[in-house]
Amino acid sequence: MAEKFKIKIAPSLLSADFSSLASEIKRAEKAGADMLHVDVMDGHFVPNITLGPFIVKAMRRVTRLPLISHLMIDDPGKYIKEFAEAGSDMIIFHIEAVKNPKALIRNIKSLKVRAGVSIKPGTKTGSVKNILPMLDEVLVMSVEPGFGGQKCMREAFPKIGKIRNDYGYKGDIGVDGGINYENARLAASMGANVFIAGTYLFGGKNMKKLISQMKRIKCCEN
Ligand code: DX5
Ligand code: ZN
Repeated sequence: MAEKFKIKIAPSLLSADFSSLASEIKRAEKAGADMLHVDVMDGHFVPNITLGPFIVKAMRRVTRLPLISHLMIDDPGKYIKEFAEAGSDMIIFHIEAVKNPKALIRNIKSLKVRAGVSIKPGTKTGSVKNILPMLDEVLVMSVEPGFGGQKCMREAFPKIGKIRNDYGYKGDIGVDGGINYENARLAASMGANVFIAGTYLFGGKNMKKLISQMKRIKCCEN
């Protein structure tokens, strides 16, 4: 595999202490995060409820890091504009939640925001195959979306290889759910280059050390 993709680290704020959100964001920033992953849950698409555009707007005021809104919500099209206006740099929606992904991607891009699509552990790669050229990122979930702190389902990883190698996708491939150093390495060997990690990074003693270790992982190498 000749091509190399830049490794990027996205701490998931779901595991941050929300009573001190601004300082948690600074902590991730100082530790070398490339972007911040914001988990939006609506109690319908997933059983849990987290936050909406109002909080993204507050986050926007305290950091210049790209804010990635991972929408685990039904009918995401309804809220795209609000998340864009709140200051999201990229909006990732779930392929399982929409009927017309192409129209939604066009809508996101028309708001000058990057567009990504996420697939749940049980969702096949074929569901995103024909939209790959329109996407900035494919996010492969390695837990059932809804909660932080779950065990990584490594059986989802071969889908990364399929998207990277069989489909020849050249954009970012993120992996989200139970990611630690070892799981990130395995995912990277298959072609992932964006590591989303909540519990591992916010729960660890030294986020800076953990991030720099993860950044040394090479994509697409065994
Ligand atoms: C799960 C979320 C993840 C989660 C990751 O529904 O999409 O982003 O916060 O948390 P950890 O790293 O703890 O699995
Ligand atoms: Zn997420």
